[in-house]
Amino acid sequence: MFNKIRLWKNKNNSSTLRDKIEKIKKLPVPEHVAIIMDGNGRWAKKRALPRIAGHHEGMKVVRKTTKLANELGLKAITLYAFSTENWKRPKNEVDYIMKLPDEFLGTFLPELIEENVQVKMMGYKSQLPVHTLSAIEKAIEETKNNDGLVLNFALNYGSRAEILDAVKQVVNDCNSGKLLEDQLDEKVFSSYLMTTEFTDPDLLIRTSGEIRLSNFMLWQLAYSELWFTDVLWPDFNEEHLLEAVEAFQKRQRRFGGV
Ligand code: IPE
Ligand code: IPE
Ligand code: MG
Repeated sequence: MFNKIRLWKNKNNSSTLRDKIEKIKKLPVPEHVAIIMDGNGRWAKKRALPRIAGHHEGMKVVRKTTKLANELGLKAITLYAFSTENWKRPKNEVDYIMKLPDEFLGTFLPELIEENVQVKMMGYKSQLPVHTLSAIEKAIEETKNNDGLVLNFALNYGSRAEILDAVKQVVNDCNSGKLLEDQLDEKVFSSYLMTTEFTDPDLLIRTSGEIRLSNFMLWQLAYSELWFTDVLWPDFNEEHLLEAVEAFQKRQRRFGGV
């Protein structure tokens, strides 16, 4: 509670933000929001800073976004933090990104615990450095009894690999007789994905002006509402998140019906 008050007091326009939050909370909010946090490198370049400065700034936005998502009563946010393709980047950049979970959770974990947030992760764990994985596993362990907002990090995540692995597992289970081909439907297939405990995202946000999915949740985003902004991730703030949720509330979802 104290943290929330502090968050809003820091803002000059706090009453406007509060009004907006209250207004948004009167209508149904998306249950699960997925975010492609893009534009850290360009944010740094604009300031003649190294790319890693953009990643550091972006980490602070994760904190603010989590707090507001919690305040709005969302059930889950999935944040694309590192893709299976991001290993192509220069080693110093990858090394820096892999240190961010230690730093972020090192400072923010007590707050997450206090605010009843559950930390989760989806992605290929075995390729992650030990220090990265242990920071995340510690956070998962220490927040596992919380039942508020789920903060799900997509780290070393790639949707095609995820789908392919699910297919392999399905084949295995069919061969061993654990699963009958006739039993396989969309719901059962979904249970083989990394998102088995989540509902599909209702809303996808991507920052930085890129209009693509970059191998993110290809199966799960089939009927999500998409919201793109030119704002670079380190500049993304509470107003922008509220704008996205407000836009979502105005959309009419039909799921193929009329
Ligand atoms: C997103 O920002 C963060 C990661 C992909 C890890 P980028 O680093 O992709 O920033 P741009 O797209 O180069 O500006
Ligand atoms: C997607 O952003 C991955 C993350 C935000 C973690 P990228 O910056 O890697 O995507 P592309 O290369 O522009 O498609
Ligand atoms: Mg990018």
